[in-house]
Amino acid sequence: MRKQFLMLIIATLCIFAPFISLPQNMSKTESTDRKWWKEAIVYQIYPRSFKDDNGDGIGDLKGIISKLDYIKSLGVTAVWLNPIYTSPNDDNGYDVSDYRNIMKDFGTMDDFDALLKGLHERGIRLVMDMVVNHSSDEHEWFKQSRSSRNSPYRNYYHWWNAERGTPPPRYSLFDVNHDAWRYDSLTNAYYLHYFSRKQPDLNWENPKVRQEVFDIMKFWADKGIDGFRLDAFQFAAKDTTWPVFPKGYEKNFTKYYAIGPHLHDYLKEMYNEVFSKYDVMSVAEGAGNSFRDAHDLVDADRKELNMAYAFDAVDVAKPDGYSLVHLKEVFTKWDNEFAKKGWLSIFLANHDQARMVTRFGNDNPQYREISSKMLTTFIMTMRGTPFYYNGDELGMNNPGFKSIRDYRDMATLNEYRHQENIGADMRAYLERIAFECRDNGRTPFQWNGTANAGFSTSKPWINVNPNYKTVNAAVQEKDPNSVLNYFRSVVKLRKDNPVLVYGKYTLLDKQNPDVYAYTRVLGPKRLLILLNFHGHNAKAITGINMDKAKVLLGNYARPSTNGELRPYEAVVYEL
Ligand code: GLC
Ligand code: CA
Repeated sequence: MRKQFLMLIIATLCIFAPFISLPQNMSKTESTDRKWWKEAIVYQIYPRSFKDDNGDGIGDLKGIISKLDYIKSLGVTAVWLNPIYTSPNDDNGYDVSDYRNIMKDFGTMDDFDALLKGLHERGIRLVMDMVVNHSSDEHEWFKQSRSSRNSPYRNYYHWWNAERGTPPPRYSLFDVNHDAWRYDSLTNAYYLHYFSRKQPDLNWENPKVRQEVFDIMKFWADKGIDGFRLDAFQFAAKDTTWPVFPKGYEKNFTKYYAIGPHLHDYLKEMYNEVFSKYDVMSVAEGAGNSFRDAHDLVDADRKELNMAYAFDAVDVAKPDGYSLVHLKEVFTKWDNEFAKKGWLSIFLANHDQARMVTRFGNDNPQYREISSKMLTTFIMTMRGTPFYYNGDELGMNNPGFKSIRDYRDMATLNEYRHQENIGADMRAYLERIAFECRDNGRTPFQWNGTANAGFSTSKPWINVNPNYKTVNAAVQEKDPNSVLNYFRSVVKLRKDNPVLVYGKYTLLDKQNPDVYAYTRVLGPKRLLILLNFHGHNAKAITGINMDKAKVLLGNYARPSTNGELRPYEAVVYEL
């Protein structure tokens, strides 16, 4: 008992001990103000697909627990878990029916407590997903709300009584007809759902709803979790005068949906009620429509959230490719805008995206590994907190699903029906989703070359990528040059070099169509990062004298010493 207590103290000390020390003479701005969440390396785990312990084909908490030493071995310092609360799973847990319990598929609260303890013992923090723009329609609040117009829960959601006629159109991201108002004959009224019919939007104008949510957050914070990711929160506040939006608004619905009236009041209240009372980090999905919006969410003096999670960069990759110059432009603009104030997260993938290497690198067997390593180098050498998606450390790529029957994502299946209804070219649609559907990023984690990639002893809920016999963790553990071991060395590089967290970023040779080149500078420390994003040799014109440049890391056995890069070569130099 006593020993366990000691372990816990040591683990806590490890978590809170600063990872690194900073040079004395560095300029003091909000961006160089040290925080653990700026130094964190977040590893995102999609629990459904990570590891199945009880053999029902669905990943679970015990599965994650069985892989804690693997997670620790990566060197990451925080884990973000996608929702694990009780849910009917219309949207894989993003439809919560009980925020204080664990989804049956995933296990029990005891499993959760063991997971949290196991992470903390290893010096790893836990960030939970809070899905409170909406709940499940099977949540008790909604059941009550829909039961009667006089229910005390009626105003927990947004209702439009049908005698007023049809409500002003609202776009639903996931509905078959994209109609966000669903008629419910029980009380002759429509309810609002920006996502699926089974995800009714909560009414944040109602102070009771806000109090419920803050209580839920405190419940988890009291358990000792270390952060919250607020799902779709930019959409939580609605203009409940329900203005009619201009024709075609749905093509740019974020402009009309994001950062609605009082959103900042709600966040300030959340800060006062929750964030100010615990040492937790906070990040909201989406950052509005402008840099101003993003700053208003995260600048420290506003006392709202810690870091912005914006989609501009990840949205650059399209089925027909993307321009590196464009990608550089987007990342550079965001960095420049946040050079002094606020803080960003850096990512190229998550559970809502297809695989990073397929979209941004090259998943052709010849280049899959080398380009995965290059992209990892990029994520880990940018300013901002890296959010790294599970499986990318193996270079997992899109599985190449051919039939709609391979897909599980409700949003994709609904859209398929919608496309059919409007007489679209279904072959083209299948091709498109094989590239960009989020199920591509949700196939089971490839642990080894045995049946079902070692993910489960029975048929997984979604098919395993057929390349699991060659692409898997077990094979890569044994190979010092694997994508996995490279990932570990880049993570270590970031942890050893505060310049990679806090250093100023400067883009070089910005029009270069192949090479992404930049420096990171903090006090006397100067690093140069060169990344060839393409499959041919390329060189950047950096104007930097490379004579004294020392290679810190590279993804080729003999990294380029003169800046002439081979296909997908990545090199980090100290100048
Ligand atoms: C967010 C989640 C996504 C989910 C949606 C609705 O975008 O990341 O997975 O489907 O919100 O909750
Ligand atoms: Ca299971």
